[in-house]
Amino acid sequence: MKRTHHCAQLTKADLHATVSLAGWVDSVRDHGGIIFVDLRDRQGITQVKFDSALREQAAKLKDESVIGITGKVELRPTDMVNKALPTGEIEVDATELEIHNISETPPFPLDDAGGDKVNEDLRLTYRYLDLRRPKMRRNLAVRHKATKAVRDYFDYQGFYEVETPALFKSTPEGAREYLVPSRIHAGQFYALSQSPQQFKQILMVAGVEKYFQIARCFRDEDLRADRQMEFTQIDVEVSFIDREGIYALFEGMLKKVWKDVLNHDLPTPFPRMAYKDAMNRYGVDKPDTRFGLELVDFTDTFRNSGFKVFQSTAASGGSIKAVNAKGLADATQGEITSLEESAKAMGAKGLAYIKVEKGEWKSPIVKFFTEAEKADLTARLNIQDGDLICFAAAPWERACAILGRVRLDAAQLLVKRGKLTLRPDQWNFLWVVDFPLMSYDEERGGYAATHHPFTAPVPEDAHLLDSDPKAVRGQHYDVVLNGMELGGGSIRIHQPALQEKVFTDVLKIPADVVESRFGYMLKAFKYGAPPHGGIAFGLDRMCALLCGTNSIRDVIAFPKTQKAQDLMNQSPTPVTEKQLRDLHIRVVDEAK
Ligand code: AMO
Ligand code: AMP
Repeated sequence: MKRTHHCAQLTKADLHATVSLAGWVDSVRDHGGIIFVDLRDRQGITQVKFDSALREQAAKLKDESVIGITGKVELRPTDMVNKALPTGEIEVDATELEIHNISETPPFPLDDAGGDKVNEDLRLTYRYLDLRRPKMRRNLAVRHKATKAVRDYFDYQGFYEVETPALFKSTPEGAREYLVPSRIHAGQFYALSQSPQQFKQILMVAGVEKYFQIARCFRDEDLRADRQMEFTQIDVEVSFIDREGIYALFEGMLKKVWKDVLNHDLPTPFPRMAYKDAMNRYGVDKPDTRFGLELVDFTDTFRNSGFKVFQSTAASGGSIKAVNAKGLADATQGEITSLEESAKAMGAKGLAYIKVEKGEWKSPIVKFFTEAEKADLTARLNIQDGDLICFAAAPWERACAILGRVRLDAAQLLVKRGKLTLRPDQWNFLWVVDFPLMSYDEERGGYAATHHPFTAPVPEDAHLLDSDPKAVRGQHYDVVLNGMELGGGSIRIHQPALQEKVFTDVLKIPADVVESRFGYMLKAFKYGAPPHGGIAFGLDRMCALLCGTNSIRDVIAFPKTQKAQDLMNQSPTPVTEKQLRDLHIRVVDEAK
C-alpha cells in the first residue's frame, strides 16, 4: 500500500477519489457500528471511517498504532464538520487496512497541553514519544528552517562551510573540557573542541577569507536551561573586516532568519550599548531592554550619609546604587526574602529597601536619611506611592550585578501581578560593545582575558597594555536578545608579536606553556596572517527564542538532563575492564 497523500492534504476537491494514507492513530472512537480513527502523520490529521467490513480489524487499534489505509474521500455529515482542521470537511471511508504495529499505551498524553504537564524526565526517557507532540515537531521544523536560512545566507555571501575537528588538544584556560584518552599514545589525551576558535583563525591564515560552520561544541559546564554540555554554534570568521563589517553581516543574517522562520521584519541596525552603560543601567552585560526599572547611582548623594554602610562604602571607593521596583510595595515577606536571597547570591551583605505606602517610607534605614537625600531619591527614582526601592552598597561591579539580579526578579514579580507584560515576540536586539579586554582575577592575583586571549585591543587603548591593562577596551562584541546572550566575538590580534606580548607580559603565562599550547598558532601567524575577526552564535539559544521557549532542551532532539544524563539510553555508563586497559586508564574508587 503506497501512500498517495499526506494527512493534511485532502479537501472537498478530492471528493470520491481513492487514496492511500499512512501514519499513527491519534485517537480511536467507537460509535457503535462505525469506528472513527484520527490518522496522523508529520503534516496533520485526517479522519478515517471503518464500517462493517473492516470494523472488527479496526477495533484492535490503540492510540499511537501505525497503520496504512486505502479508501474513498467522502464529505462528512454537516454536524461532523471540523472547521479547525484543514481536512475537517472530509473523511476517508476505508476499504483496506494494513496494521504495521499496535502500540502500547503511551506513558503520558501526546498532545501539547497534556505533555507540558508531565515531568520532563519522563518526556526525556520516552523522547521518541515526546517528539511526536505537535509543539516539539514544530520546534524541530523551526530549527531546520533557521539552520537552512543561515546556510543560505552565508552561501549567498560567498562563505565556505568548513568542518574542523571535534578532537582537539587540551586548552585548560577555557571552560572545563571533555578529555578523550588516546589508545595509541598511552597517557595522552585529546580534548573535545570547546569551539573552533583556533582552527577558524588558522583558516584565515590559510587564505579561506570567509568561513562558517554549524559547529558542535563541547563544554563540561554546570547545565542550565540555556546551557548544554554539547551545543551548536553558528561559527564565523572573516578576513579584512572590522567591527562595523561584522555588525552589518550578522544583522543581515538575523534579518533573514527572522523573515524566513517567523515572517517578521527585524529593524536594523540594532542599538549598541557600551559594557559600562549596560552594567550601570541594567546591572548585567546582557540587558533585557523590554522594560525599564533602570538602576540609578547615588554614591555622591550618600557620601556623608548617617547610614554607616552607605558612608563607608562610598569612602572606600565603592558604589551605592538603587532601583525602583515600581508598584511592588505590596511584595509579601516571602517575596522580599527571596529578593534578599538573590542579592546575597550575587555577593550582597544585605538588601536595604524602602516600601512607599500611603505617603510613608517604611524602612529601618529611612531614619538615617536627610531631607535633601530623600528629595534626591524621589526625583531621580521618580518615587510614588506603591513603589519598592532596593539598594546595594558594594564595589561598583558587584553593586551593579546585585541590583541587576534584583531588577530581573522584581520584573518577574510584576509580571505575576499583571503589572508588567514581557512579550516574547518583542525582539529587543542589542550589540554590547567596549568590554574591558582584561579582568583582574582577585583569587589568582593576575589578569585574565575577559573573553579569550585572541581578542584585539581597541587601537586607541593599546598603549595602556603595559601600564593599565584593565583600562584597555577589547574589540569584542556580544549580541543580546531580550536578556539572553545569543552570540559573541571579536576582531582578533593578527600580529604575532602583539599576541606573544598578551600571553607573556599581560597574562603572565610562562614561555614554555605559551610555546606548548599556542606555539603552532604564533608560528602560523608569522607566515602572513591577515587582519581578521569573527563571532559565534548559540544556535540552540536562537532557536529557543524563535520557538518561544525558555529551555534549549526543547529545541535539541536528544538533550542531556541537568545531571548530564541521557535518560533514554541511560548514558553515561561504566565500560569494560578491557576497554579501560586498551586506553591505559585505571579507575580509582575515591571512597577507598
Ligand atoms: P562563546 O564562548 O561566547 O564564544 O560562545 C558563543 C555562543 O555560544 C553559545 N553557548 C552555549 N550554548 C549552549 N550551551 C552552552 N554550554 C553554551 N556555551 C556557549 C552562546 C554564546 O554566546 N569562539 C568564541 C566566539 C568567537 O570569539 O568567535 C566562543 O566560543 O550563545
Ligand atoms: P543594618 O543596619 O546592618 O541592620 O542594615 C540595615 C539594612 O541594610 C538591612 O536591611 C541590611 O540587609 C541592609 N544592608 C546591609 N549591608 C548592605 C549593603 N552593603 N548594601 C545594601 N543593603 C545593605
